[in-house]
Amino acid sequence: MIRQIKNSELYFDGCSTVELAKKYGTPLYVLSETDIVSRFRELREGFTQKYENTRVAYAAKAFGTMAMFRLCQREGICIDVVSAGELYTAIKAGFPPEMIEFNGNNKLPYEIEMALGYGIGRFIVDGLCETDLIEAICKEKGKTASILFRITPGVKSDSHDYIVTGKKDSKFGIPLDEDVLYPQIKKAIESEYINFLGFHFHVGSQLHDNSSHLQAVETILEHTGEVKRRFDYDIKELNIGGGFGVKYTNEDRKSFSYFLDPAMEMIESYFKKLGIKRPEIVIEPGRSIVAEAGISLYTIGSIKEIKDIRKYVSVDGGMTDNIRPALYQAVYDGVIANKADQEKTEKVTICGKCCESGDILIRDIDIANPQAGDIFAVFSTGAYGYSMASNYNKNPIPAVVLVKEGRSELIVKRQSFDDMIQNEIIPESLR
Ligand code: LLP
Repeated sequence: MIRQIKNSELYFDGCSTVELAKKYGTPLYVLSETDIVSRFRELREGFTQKYENTRVAYAAKAFGTMAMFRLCQREGICIDVVSAGELYTAIKAGFPPEMIEFNGNNKLPYEIEMALGYGIGRFIVDGLCETDLIEAICKEKGKTASILFRITPGVKSDSHDYIVTGKKDSKFGIPLDEDVLYPQIKKAIESEYINFLGFHFHVGSQLHDNSSHLQAVETILEHTGEVKRRFDYDIKELNIGGGFGVKYTNEDRKSFSYFLDPAMEMIESYFKKLGIKRPEIVIEPGRSIVAEAGISLYTIGSIKEIKDIRKYVSVDGGMTDNIRPALYQAVYDGVIANKADQEKTEKVTICGKCCESGDILIRDIDIANPQAGDIFAVFSTGAYGYSMASNYNKNPIPAVVLVKEGRSELIVKRQSFDDMIQNEIIPESLR
């Protein structure tokens, strides 16, 4: 178990969270290497080793730092980036460019140039004008780009509206209209600057049901067959995205196999029937790799009891280090780390320190009697916490510590006030 209780204290991957708070300060993101590695192992055993010609590309947007990219490299995991910033971070970490794929619905010309310059593995083309843009840049630079088309499979998935992406009315992907997609595919096949690999979809995030993935697989297979019929062209790669759900509170987290086995069965039998070699199958998990591997530690400060209404327990972070409750009404669980085995006698609302009524981290949670100075731990914050952090109210972005079996190492320093103002300029006219 990654989480344990010893001497009343919460331990995480062998480290006392109270000691971590003391050593590194709060708010603090803590990430368990053991947990991340065990997710990669599950994927190896249940996917890449079980089915040949398969690959995992970790979606860097969930948590993309140099240390994380090193971990991916060590574990033989590719990465998926969506911006020049993520790409730059990966390259600076020494990550092999050919193991990087580039997603995103509006890749900028300079991002494409930069990616081509580094020699990344492939672009996931998200719109029609993007093929032209990539082709034009390749022509100018004398390069070839490998691409997949991200299609919008037109399936609805059961998640928060902001994180579903596969329905037809979406800013992501290429709609599956005959007269839109096929001329584009023809162009890609014929272009001397483009190496057309195949199709990609991503139906949404935090999914606990495999039906939308399976529907989308069916769609992508139909189009793979159609490409063969129309152009006698063999698709080389199919990327079926990420989106595998995790446990924040009471969710029933499904195994990767729950999603991947039926998908692989459909895919394998389709190609067997067609009598052609199955393309490489790629997945792009983000949240499912890091969410439960992370916790956030805070120090409790002001406690306010509004008689007969609620008790507000404020912590020294909030929506600046975890925007998910405010943005998606995401629900989290947590505990007072230094009173981890004490009876939960109070129902309180854990709120952040930002000047926003919506800066609530956890509403109505049962905890032990809280006091200023206690350390509060929020669970499952490893994904989309640090990566979505902001400097609102000029709060510095917390440090990130990687823990493993009782050892801790700083992987992101706490932002300083000087870091926050380093790009600010007082113009001549105001001096
Ligand atoms: N591939 C593509 C093309 C994506 O757009 C995403 C996520 C992923 C992979 C990884 O999905 P995951 O396995 O992490 O579900 N900020 C939101 C999540 C946004 C997800 C956007 N795309 C949140 O905090 O819930």
